[in-house]
Amino acid sequence: QPQAIIFDLDGVLTDTSEYHYQAWKHLADDEGIPLTHEENDEHLRGVGRRESLMYIIRGHQYSEDQIQEMMERKNRYYHAFIEHMTPKEVVTGGVALLEEIKSAGIKVAIASASKNSHLVLDRLQLTSYFDGIADGNCVVNGKPAPDIFVYAAGLVNVFTPNCIGVEDADAGIQAIKAAGMKAVAIGPASRFHGPDKVLPNMENKHLKDLLVE
Ligand code: BG6
Ligand code: MG
Repeated sequence: QPQAIIFDLDGVLTDTSEYHYQAWKHLADDEGIPLTHEENDEHLRGVGRRESLMYIIRGHQYSEDQIQEMMERKNRYYHAFIEHMTPKEVVTGGVALLEEIKSAGIKVAIASASKNSHLVLDRLQLTSYFDGIADGNCVVNGKPAPDIFVYAAGLVNVFTPNCIGVEDADAGIQAIKAAGMKAVAIGPASRFHGPDKVLPNMENKHLKDLLVE
């Protein structure tokens, strides 16, 4: 049995990954740059704000000031979505799963690249479920670097091999594996490289579904 289960937030516990895409799409439209849903899945899912923008504006010339302004603009567009979130936007069965894990004596933590994690968790009324929350302000090197998962394991005082990480992005799966944890992938198997387990979605999942041999 694991001693901690460390969840990514966006796209795992709630479908904010669609809001991130819509906000980037709005920005890309402003700038006259094409951006498709497929590109989002392949290049932006789970990737940090700056790295995402760098992908979108690749081949274009922008100053650092313009880059900063675009990151702020995207975040305003994103906020317009998340400000209206309610606890109904937690994945079906998400609260029951967190309660089941906690009553089994297993720690739960968040490892998210997002600087908006606390806001989203508050809107979803999930904050109190977590023993540790590692967000986009905690580490310099984003996923696929292991840092954010290692940091989250530290917050709950668990050795990394005793943790399971849960992710909807391949960058996150690589981060979990590099951290020495077992990796559970959420989404189509074709999206991932080398997870220990793949589940199509998080809906109505139980602790046993997350366990890896
Ligand atoms: C990740 C999302 O959780 O956080 C990405 O999957 C997002 O889509 C990244 O770019 C950074 O989020 P934010 O809220 O700090 O811009
Ligand atoms: Mg994610």
